[in-house]
Amino acid sequence: MSFKVAVVGATGNVGREMLNILEERGFPVSEVVALASRRSQGTEVSFGDRTLKVRTLDQYDFSDTDICIMSAGGNVSKEWSPKIGKQGCVVIDNSSAFRYDQDVPLIVPEVNPDAISLFTRKNIIANPNCSTAQLVVALKPLHDFATIKRVVVATYQSVSGAGKEGMDELFTQTRAVFVADSVDVKKFTKRIAFNVIPHIDVFLDDGFTKEEWKMVAETKKMLDPKIKLTATCVRVPVFIGHSEAVNIEFEKPITADEARDILREAPGCQVLDKREDGGYITPLESAGEDATFISRIREDSTIDNGLSMWIVSDNLRKGAALNAVQIAELLVERGLIQPKKKAA
Ligand SMILES: NC(=O)c1ccc[n+]([C@@H]2O[C@H](COP(=O)([O-])OP(=O)(O)OC[C@H]3O[C@@H](n4cnc5c(N)ncnc54)[C@H](OP(=O)(O)O)[C@@H]3O)[C@@H](O)[C@H]2O)c1
Repeated sequence: MSFKVAVVGATGNVGREMLNILEERGFPVSEVVALASRRSQGTEVSFGDRTLKVRTLDQYDFSDTDICIMSAGGNVSKEWSPKIGKQGCVVIDNSSAFRYDQDVPLIVPEVNPDAISLFTRKNIIANPNCSTAQLVVALKPLHDFATIKRVVVATYQSVSGAGKEGMDELFTQTRAVFVADSVDVKKFTKRIAFNVIPHIDVFLDDGFTKEEWKMVAETKKMLDPKIKLTATCVRVPVFIGHSEAVNIEFEKPITADEARDILREAPGCQVLDKREDGGYITPLESAGEDATFISRIREDSTIDNGLSMWIVSDNLRKGAALNAVQIAELLVERGLIQPKKKAA
């Protein structure tokens, strides 16, 4: 059984990683179609050792396509995902356009795979925000053991989370600083080279940013609505890999050793935690990897049943493309999707 898969946003940071991961994991494809805007028509992207010519989204007919992995931003998704879904093609959407819709499941396969069955309501499945995906992978097994009451998180998010323009801006500004050229600020609100910016996405009335709000709403939707979470989201001059300093308060006692043992066994998690120089993960080392890495696990004696830890993952993989492909795999494993065209 194999599926016709379209990747929308195939020329972008996440889209290219989608193509890599579909190929690496041997997802059963009969055909892969690369789609982007008119700007990219005719350009080429790689799919394994093949080259795909990029086609334009607004001239593509989805009626014989089985799965559309959508990674072209919220506005494109709002316009296209419902139309594509109505053509009987299951949309796995990377943007925030449908994440909070009651009729659209928001899925991290290690966390809430059973919620996927809801997808038939709109034929759309949402992929979470990059910083939430890695967080809930680590929180879920700990919540099952000791019930999380409250989480305080500060993120250190790489520029690739802001698309290819974000990566270009860090590169260009860094070079400009070295050659004593003028530094232009376009994509971010302040200079990102040799700086950190405590602002991601738009400001809300309560002073939090939308990125911070997303972490709250998505953790509640996927893990448990009773969990209280407060976040500070910060952009840092790192190309790939989001890091998070996380403090967790549990209902029941849990030691650092217990948490380490639980996380070692947990799907998608890898513990790298030695109390010595270099005995922890950094975002540079997480780039290109599938795991959510957990380091610096320690008890926080300032609260009852408290733990602190450091969680790092490749935002383009677990934070986006890998999670989307895992959702497609879940659809196939559970027999929730059949190819429209039967193999000859
Ligand atoms: N980066 C992350 O860590 C991350 C994590 C989770 C979710 N996401 C989400 O994933 C999506 C893509 O992010 P990205 O980082 O890959 O951005 P990106 O590098 O800027 O790429 C954007 C892609 O969307 C395409 N696109 C833009 N407008 C389009 C249109 N009107 N019709 C068709 N295609 C269009 C672009 O095609 P052209 O080349 O033709 O312009 C490009 O392929 C966003 O919704 C983002 O929020 C990103």
